[in-house]
Amino acid sequence: MFGELVVVDDVPAEFAERVIEAYHARPNDAFSIALSGGGTARRCYERLADDAGTQIDWWKVDVYWGDERCVPLDHEESNYRLGREALLERVGAVNANYPMRCEEGPDPYQLRLGELGKLDVVHLGLGADGHTASLFPGSPGLDADPGRLVVMNEDPSDRNPHPRMTLTMAGISRARLALVTVSGEGKREALARAAADDPDVPAALVRADRVVWLADADAAGDLA
Ligand code: 6PG
Repeated sequence: MFGELVVVDDVPAEFAERVIEAYHARPNDAFSIALSGGGTARRCYERLADDAGTQIDWWKVDVYWGDERCVPLDHEESNYRLGREALLERVGAVNANYPMRCEEGPDPYQLRLGELGKLDVVHLGLGADGHTASLFPGSPGLDADPGRLVVMNEDPSDRNPHPRMTLTMAGISRARLALVTVSGEGKREALARAAADDPDVPAALVRADRVVWLADADAAGDLA
C-alpha cells in the first residue's frame, strides 16, 4: 500500500490524536478537514469531539465531506447528518461547513475545492469490497478526468445504496494528510488486498502528501 500502516488498539482514539496533531501542524491559520461516512467514522468523530477539548479552536476549522449519499441532508443515511450529529453538534460552531449537495451537481464543490487548494486532512474509510469514499470497484468515478476533483458516482454492484457525490482520487490527493481508518475482522481481506496494491481495490489507489492507515488488530490480521 501507499503510505504507512499503523496498527492500534483504539482506532478512534488514534484518529483523534492524529487530527489534533495535524491541526497544530497546519501551515495556515485555517484548518480544513473532509469527513467520511460509515460507522467507524461516527466513532472517530465522537472521540475527536471528546478529546479535542481546547486543543482545537473550532472557529478556525472548515469542514468538508469526502463523499455523500444523494439523500436529504437530514436523512438517516446522510454523511452530512452523521458529521453534524457526531462532531458539529458536539464541538459547537465551526468557521464553515460545506455539505455536498447532490441536487447542485459536483461543479460548485469542484470550484470550492479549486479555490481552497489543499485540504489539511481527508478522512477515509474502507469498505469490505475495497471502496473508499464513494469510489466503488468498477465505478466510473475511478476513471474521472484528471482535472475532476469531485464527481457523481454509483456502485455498479448495488451493494452500496443511493447515487453518490464523491472526491475523486485526484481530489483525495490534494490532502496534506489522508487518514484511512479500518476496524474489524470484516475489513481484513480488503486491507490485505490494499496492502498488496491490488488494482481492483480502489483504496489501494489513495495518494496524498502523506497517507496513514490506522487499523486495529482485527482488521490488520497478519499485517500486524
Ligand atoms: C460511505 C463512506 C464509506 C465508508 C466505508 C466504511 O459513505 O459509505 O464514506 O466509504 O467510509 O464504507 O464504512 P464502515 O466504517 O461503516 O465500515
